[in-house]
Order: sequence, then structure tokens, then C-alpha cells
Amino acid sequence: MNWRHKDLIDLDDWTREELNLFLEQANYMEELLNRPIKKVPALRGKLIVNFFFEPSTRTRVSFELAEKMLSADVVNWSSSGSSVSKGETLRDTAWTLEAMGADAVVIRYGAVGSADYLSRKLKKASVFNAGDGTHGHPTQALLDLHSAWKKLGNLEGSRMAIVGDVLHSRVARSNIKAFSKMGVKVILSGPATLMPTDIPSLGAEYDPDPRSAVKDADMIYLLRIQKERQEQGLIPSLDEYHLRYGATEELVSLAGKDALVMHPGPINRRVEIASEVADGEQSIILKQVRSGVAVRMALLYLCLGGVRN
Ligand code: CP
Repeated sequence: MNWRHKDLIDLDDWTREELNLFLEQANYMEELLNRPIKKVPALRGKLIVNFFFEPSTRTRVSFELAEKMLSADVVNWSSSGSSVSKGETLRDTAWTLEAMGADAVVIRYGAVGSADYLSRKLKKASVFNAGDGTHGHPTQALLDLHSAWKKLGNLEGSRMAIVGDVLHSRVARSNIKAFSKMGVKVILSGPATLMPTDIPSLGAEYDPDPRSAVKDADMIYLLRIQKERQEQGLIPSLDEYHLRYGATEELVSLAGKDALVMHPGPINRRVEIASEVADGEQSIILKQVRSGVAVRMALLYLCLGGVRN
């Protein structure tokens, strides 16, 4: 199969066949990362600009590592050090970077649709969405899929409970798309004040009770309360939230000992997840982080037309 995607804005138009091919490619990249000499020349001569206008640790660092492992030239950009802080528009900044020869732009930006907008304005360069407001975070979904697939194998017919602040979560939206395409039943749980109104059209179900939502789940996916994106008063207090919706050992035990505990990070201990669960045997949170580098290598390689050496 020829790879047809130049950009990654979100996963709406990816087929299951493409997701499967992608997972195999990510596995190959993971094998490379386990070798003593990890770097390969696949993207030698390509210039990639990382544009992060919102805070990030995992996504920013793993994109940069992935780019360097594939021998691309890398420029890191942030709003405070750029002319965006002097009033330059996103479009003019992007055109400037393309004029300098950028082959790809990785962008995290607070406005919904910013990555899509950029991909329409750039003539040649690829655009990779590293998070656009509350809309999408497709590379997070791909790394989550890769981490779960490695542990569980074929995901068809499995169940995933996503518990927490779904309303403000771009991760949840991209994950519902990715996991549903692979035949996973996705159940959302959390306070009604933190749920979007379009759950059925997303392809998920809502269960207000986390105890029944996680029952028989193969994956329990916790979401952070996104205080930076929400108005006051959506939950009574963080302590009360933890008591009712937090992933405690007791809540996880309802799913069974083989259920995977997942989280995109950053985690807030004793809010959405207890320390014993975050650091426990069922947690694959750090494996998700590890998959992030291989997955972003696979993405860059496929979309930028790298040559396997
Ligand atoms: N999961 C995630 O996007 O983490 P960062 O905000 O650290 O990139």
C-alpha cells in the first residue's frame, strides 16, 4: 500500500488498514531505538520546525528526538521568542518558515483548527498537529494505540473506559476515533459537567458511574482535569473528584488484574489517579511515553517519504 497522507491533522480519514500499517512501521522504529546505534539517515536533508505555543514535555521532546533519530535538521520555535509575540499572524509566520525551506511544521497551538488552517496555507510543507485546543491530539492517540496493541494484540471487541475531563480533552477525541476504528468499544465516564454534548456522534457511550464503566474494561484511560481550559465550578473540589472518579486500587480492581491503566500525562497524583495505581503493575504510562518516540518516527518517515536504510 502506498502511503497517501502528507499531513496529520487528525485521524478522521485514516482507515483501519492504514492504522495497521502504521503500527507495524512504529514497531520497526522501536526496534531501531533498541539498537546500540539508533540514528539512521532516512530524513537527512529535511528541515523540520517545531512550533510549540502551549506548554509540552512529552510531545515536544519526543518529536525532537524522533526527528534527530531520523537525521533531520531541527529548529525549535516558541511564541515568546518569535515575532508572533510582536503581532505577526500564524499564517505569515508559517509562510516565512516555508520560505526558509521548512519541509515540515509540527504545531501545538491553543486555537481549535490551527493545524488544519496551517496545512491549507502552506504550499509544500507537511503539517503535524501536536495538539490544537480541545479538538485533536492525533499523535497521542497513535502512541496510545501502539502501546495497547503491543500489550493486547488484536483490539477488535475489546473495551476502553475513558474516565475524567472529556469535555476539554483533545486526547479523548482523537483516541475515540483511533480505537473505534480498530473495533474497540469506548465508554466515557466522569461528571456530567465535564462531558461533551455530542458523545453519540463521537462514536462512544456515556456511563456516569465509573464503577460500572470500568467493569470488564481491557483499558482504563484516565484524563487530567484541565484547569487551564475550564471555567470555575464544574467540579465541587479536587478531593471530592478523587473520591468519586479517581483511579484508586479499588476502582481498577473492578476491571480485573489484566486491564491496562493508561494516561497521556502529565498526571496529577491523588486527583485523577492514585500513586499506587500510576506506579502499579497494571500501569503502562511510561511505556506510552516510550512508544511516543517510535510512533513519531514512523509518522515523519511515512509522511515525508523517507527511504529505509
Ligand atoms: N500527553 C501530552 O501531550 O503531554 P505534553 O503536554 O507533555 O506534551
